[in-house]
Amino acid sequence: MVEESKTSDPQIRENPDPHETNRPVPKKVIVIIVLALSWAIGYILMAHPGDEAQWGDNRTKADLMAHSGASTGPVDGAQIYAAQCVACHQASGAGLPGVFPPLAGSEWVLAKESLPVNILLHGISGKLTVKGTAYTGTMPAFKDKLSDAEIAAVLTFVRANFGNKAGPIAVASVQTERQAGKAKTSPWNGDDELAKLK
Ligand code: HEC
Repeated sequence: MVEESKTSDPQIRENPDPHETNRPVPKKVIVIIVLALSWAIGYILMAHPGDEAQWGDNRTKADLMAHSGASTGPVDGAQIYAAQCVACHQASGAGLPGVFPPLAGSEWVLAKESLPVNILLHGISGKLTVKGTAYTGTMPAFKDKLSDAEIAAVLTFVRANFGNKAGPIAVASVQTERQAGKAKTSPWNGDDELAKLK
């Protein structure tokens, strides 16, 4: 009896209106795509095709690693000199007569470690006498431009070249002087101040 009353209900008796359905991608095709993808990804991961130098520009992975390692290696004083000092003090270290003082044979360069370190950190303005000649230029400060290791390296280079024969500058000395002069914001006032540090 219950059955009869159900089928007589118009909602249940009638079929739903037909409508277009999306035809789903056959399962077989999905399986083939998944298999092909996992093979391809697995191949790239296991075969390292990017390591084959002869397929590219012949630079091996080792070449590229060595290159990136070099830039974090020890700093090169000669390179820093060429980039930061040559414009004024010249490649020969002889300076320009009357304008830029020489670093070659300079009593300031060859003095005790702390003096050239302080000159580089804070710069100089005012009259400075170098090898008997007075200069009144401006030597820029490098405390914001060069790291402790870079200042030590460039000064070690300057003290061992251009005929100079003074010992190397330790990174620790630069650290100490930088710390000591932390509050100093103006350059040294030439002979007046620097002679006292000699
Ligand atoms: C813009 C030009 C300029 C640059 C760049 C420069 N200097 Fe100088 N430097 C001078 C001048 C000018 C003096 C003299 C300052 C004065 O007359 O009061 C001087 C003085 C010095 C002195 C003391 C005097 C002497 O001749 O020994 C040292 C040491 C020195 N510079 C080292 C360096 C080093 C190392 C660099 C690079 C990191 C450098 N300078 C970059 C212009 C420059």
